[in-house]
Amino acid sequence: MKGIKILGVFIGLALCLSSCRREGCTDELADNFDAKAKVDDGTCDYTSSSSGPTPLALNIPATFSRFLPPPSIPADNPTTVEGVRLGKKLFFDKTLSNDLTQACASCHLPSQSFDDTNRFSVGIDGIAGTRNAMPIFNLAWNFNKNFFWDGRAQGLEEQALEPVTNPIEMHDTWANVVAKLQADPTYPSMFRAAFGTSTIDSTLAVKAIAQYERTLISGNSRFDKYTQRLIPLTPSELSGYNLFMSESGADCFHCHGDITNPLWTDNLFHNNGLDASFTDNGLGDITGNPADNGKFKTPSLRNLAFTAPYMHDGRFQTLDEVIDHYSTGLKASPTVSPLLKKVSDGGVQLTPQEKADLKAFLLTLTDSSFVAGY
Ligand code: HEC
Ligand code: HEC
Repeated sequence: MKGIKILGVFIGLALCLSSCRREGCTDELADNFDAKAKVDDGTCDYTSSSSGPTPLALNIPATFSRFLPPPSIPADNPTTVEGVRLGKKLFFDKTLSNDLTQACASCHLPSQSFDDTNRFSVGIDGIAGTRNAMPIFNLAWNFNKNFFWDGRAQGLEEQALEPVTNPIEMHDTWANVVAKLQADPTYPSMFRAAFGTSTIDSTLAVKAIAQYERTLISGNSRFDKYTQRLIPLTPSELSGYNLFMSESGADCFHCHGDITNPLWTDNLFHNNGLDASFTDNGLGDITGNPADNGKFKTPSLRNLAFTAPYMHDGRFQTLDEVIDHYSTGLKASPTVSPLLKKVSDGGVQLTPQEKADLKAFLLTLTDSSFVAGY
């Protein structure tokens, strides 16, 4: 009798071990994800097809294919399903920071069109930078390949190297991050699926992140629908667009694009009259040319409803403040853009009605589906 009892307890224990601590692949991104598994046993597989990664075509909006050249994708980093899947996981993974508290997505929030709501982003050591974070969308159409407000990174792959080591951002070393990823139960096989090798290095990690970033495409605003004749705009929104396009009106289009440039930026660098003298030289510190002092990359006007505060230093909280700047706040300086023709008058001098119309137009560039999609 006693022997049977002990056997019963033993069987019960064994059953519990297998069900209570069921082992298997716990990563839902893997092909063999086991929803019931509690403990990852390192068997996650991301290579259901053995023929290498699957090419992924970017989802190009109708207005882009109509007006813009195809996106710029480096020949040595084609977009693939497996690469994007890996890049997305890395983008949201706090493992990339030294104290495991910060991911790329901590400052590039999907709900804010991949921007930060803070004026200055705060890194893992609690130290704030001096620049406002930038939203991430449509970057595959930045044909000049200059990234950051001052253009110091050439290409998305190069850009993604910086935040990890930046002392006021994720403050880690790539050697350390690579060691953490290599020791992870899922990353080595994901790298193998994306790049054919499970030996992780920073070059492959930033390639994957850049592949993911290229899939962040925003081209479905009300204005996009208007250009496709799908919806009308209100009279106020149309007046705002006409002001935007008029040299005797608000005169914004030289730098921020028009109906034939649905990026709503020229991706070039200008001094838009914010200051008479500079605390941040922007492009000038990168080129070493004083003629570039005070010049910053023109931001896209898409998704402004999500990307406040505005300008490289986030000095304006609202679009009204931005419009007041161009209307009456322009400051002359040796490098101020000649495209701002009314600098000597302090700006384009808009009436309250014109300001309201211009703002209404700017907000038609908001793409809520982009933000809702993540
Ligand atoms: C602590 C906040 C923070 C973190 C974390 C962070 N960023 Fe940024 N990001 C910024 C700021 C601030 C800027 C603008 C900095 C500048 O221009 O000097 C920026 C700029 C960028 C840009 C340039 C966009 C353009 O249009 O030129 C890209 C792309 C980007 N970040 C991607 C990433 C990626 C990828 C990661 C993770 C590896 C990351 N960021 C982590 C704050 C952050
Ligand atoms: C000479 C080129 C030029 C012209 C003309 C111009 N802008 Fe800009 N705009 C820029 C640059 C460059 C920046 C970024 C400046 C900085 O942060 O230092 C900017 C920033 C902005 C921003 C902030 C966006 C953000 O995400 O931070 C808005 C909004 C804006 N401009 C709207 C307008 C409107 C509206 C007009 C017309 C009244 C206009 N711009 C005319 C070049 C220009």
